[in-house]
Amino acid sequence: MQRDAAKPKKSEKNINVEKRENPMSLSLDVSAKIYPVNRYLELYSRSLEEPEKFWEEQARELDWFKSWDKVLEWNTPFAKWFVGGRINACYNALDRHLKSWRKNKAALIWEGEPGERRVLTYHDLYREANRFADALLRLGVKTGDRVGIYMPLIPELPISMLAASRIGATFTVVFSGFSSGALADRLNDAEAKVLITADGGYRRGRIVNLKENADKALASCPTVEHVVVYRRTGHSVPFKEGRDIWWDDIVKDSRKYVEPVSVESNHPLYILYTSGTTGKPKGVVHSTGGYLVYVSATQKWVFDVRDEDVYWCTADIGWVTGHSYVVYGPFLNGVTTVMYEGALDYPNPGRWWEIVERYGVTILYTTPTALRTLIKYGDEYPKKYDLSSLRLLGTVGEPINPAAWEWYFNVVGGGRCPIVDTWWQTETGGILISPAPRLGLVPLKPGSATYPLPTIMADVYDEKGRPAPSMTRGYLVIKNPWPGMLQTLFKDPQRYQQVYWSRFEGVYYTGDYAMKDEEGYFWLLGRADEVLKVAGHRLGTIELEDALVSHQAVAEAAVVGRPDAVKGEVIVVFATLRQGYSPSPQLAQELREHVRRVIGPIATPEEIHFVHMLPKTRSGKIMRRVIKAVASQAEIGDITTLEDEASVEEVKKAIETLRAGMA
Ligand code: PRX
Repeated sequence: MQRDAAKPKKSEKNINVEKRENPMSLSLDVSAKIYPVNRYLELYSRSLEEPEKFWEEQARELDWFKSWDKVLEWNTPFAKWFVGGRINACYNALDRHLKSWRKNKAALIWEGEPGERRVLTYHDLYREANRFADALLRLGVKTGDRVGIYMPLIPELPISMLAASRIGATFTVVFSGFSSGALADRLNDAEAKVLITADGGYRRGRIVNLKENADKALASCPTVEHVVVYRRTGHSVPFKEGRDIWWDDIVKDSRKYVEPVSVESNHPLYILYTSGTTGKPKGVVHSTGGYLVYVSATQKWVFDVRDEDVYWCTADIGWVTGHSYVVYGPFLNGVTTVMYEGALDYPNPGRWWEIVERYGVTILYTTPTALRTLIKYGDEYPKKYDLSSLRLLGTVGEPINPAAWEWYFNVVGGGRCPIVDTWWQTETGGILISPAPRLGLVPLKPGSATYPLPTIMADVYDEKGRPAPSMTRGYLVIKNPWPGMLQTLFKDPQRYQQVYWSRFEGVYYTGDYAMKDEEGYFWLLGRADEVLKVAGHRLGTIELEDALVSHQAVAEAAVVGRPDAVKGEVIVVFATLRQGYSPSPQLAQELREHVRRVIGPIATPEEIHFVHMLPKTRSGKIMRRVIKAVASQAEIGDITTLEDEASVEEVKKAIETLRAGMA
């Protein structure tokens, strides 16, 4: 019975799940030629025997000012890694390479959307990070203070992160696509002392007015004392005397060298806000020592980075992928990284492939949504460019459907390049489940992230916390601590405990559905909670509903995700209106604009339906599953039994009302 109960309902299937019930095994000749196949599982089993020893060896690859006294202090669910060890993130990412031939190696190859190019060597980055670290010191930033960063994808963004960590300040990057309201919430929660921003950035040929957004946010951010503004676009922006200062003006008087602050391994390197199941974003706190050890090791194992590589992770640094695998992972490993500021199809859909050809990119790491967008434009774009430099491909952020996987493999990778499907989360700090070519590539199956990385004890549990049988959907859990894991939620350890460690006793609850096949491969099947993945971006339904009801016309709102062939999922809104307001296309448009203003363009609803009532159980809980099924136009089937508090009549009526709303 349990097995049936845990199986995906027909209505919940999406394009990605379809083929998964019968996963095809694609044993790639190519993998076998390049990497020793099947060596991996042996190494993995060995890593489970003495995980602390295993991580201790990895930690020795970094430079510590003082070695740790203890590898792990584990007071479930609070982990401290490399306790007593002293380290600096910026030192490990930059100073360390100055002692080697990498000093003048390209660290960052940057391309702006309008076409400018900049190459910064490790020595260049070191100089800039030092100068900016001194600027922060002169603005009064001290070890432990928080620094907000709201910037376009330009070199000064990683420079700001490196500079902050050099002086032991904890940075919090806010994605530049977020609105002023979202920025204010994050700066206030973090109690940021300084904000680093730019006049603007470029997106699809247009200027995004970051300074203007920042000014709006700062009207309600009393902790922010100073704002450093980098001149990116050069358009005129308002300046507040005494508070605002241009980047160039402050660094011109900077010292050339700032001593890196030696922090204890568990000093917080950064806070990154992410969406959860309530309206308030969670401030995920990452450590310094454990986090760096984890991203450095996983960067090597999964992407097999070598000195001759040109590595391009297309993520924005506003998300965790950018923190771990655009900035810290590559720099710790002395890799050459490509960074592109703008839209993937600007000025035409060949832009990415042109970049791969121009810089001879060897490793490409991107999202399924990006791939599906590019597939739509047709094969002629990738075929126009020489992509033969590529040798390894990666995906992240959402399940990849077999069709996108095969296109990536054949059209982009020319059938030569293994694909690493990497599963992880903001909270995990780094990749947990993925092929690891450096350690031995296992045969790939399109749509499966394969096996957990060394020491990671991942499993799939049923509702009751028992291991689910193979080929049965359940909840993905991690049963032991790892160095990259979040330390806590900022200022809210109770919520940390409750969200991640209370669903099942003593194990980390990921919030994801997954299943294991007969060979133990993991198949990720989407979120099991009220979190949506829209074009790979993580959004909470409650957060979206809060934004909607903050509009004067809306009485109640229910937000659900509907499967989408390109974005994975899109936002569908059902709303009831207050007295005096009536449904109209204009009002729907106004609500769309309103959500964009409150959260940002990534949260734009795809569909808005006005209804007379939302389906609720007798106790007043919104019946989300009914709404979701209606939005997806799926069979409602036996959904009534899922909501035992709701009568069949209630559910039927709710469906009729919703369907009428959609008509
Ligand atoms: O649902 C999983 C999905 O993305 C969620 C984490 O989102 P975020 O914290 O924004 O981090 C994204 C980048 C690491 C997960 O709970 N997810 C991530 N990677 C995969 C994935 N789903 C399927 N396959 C993946 N490879």
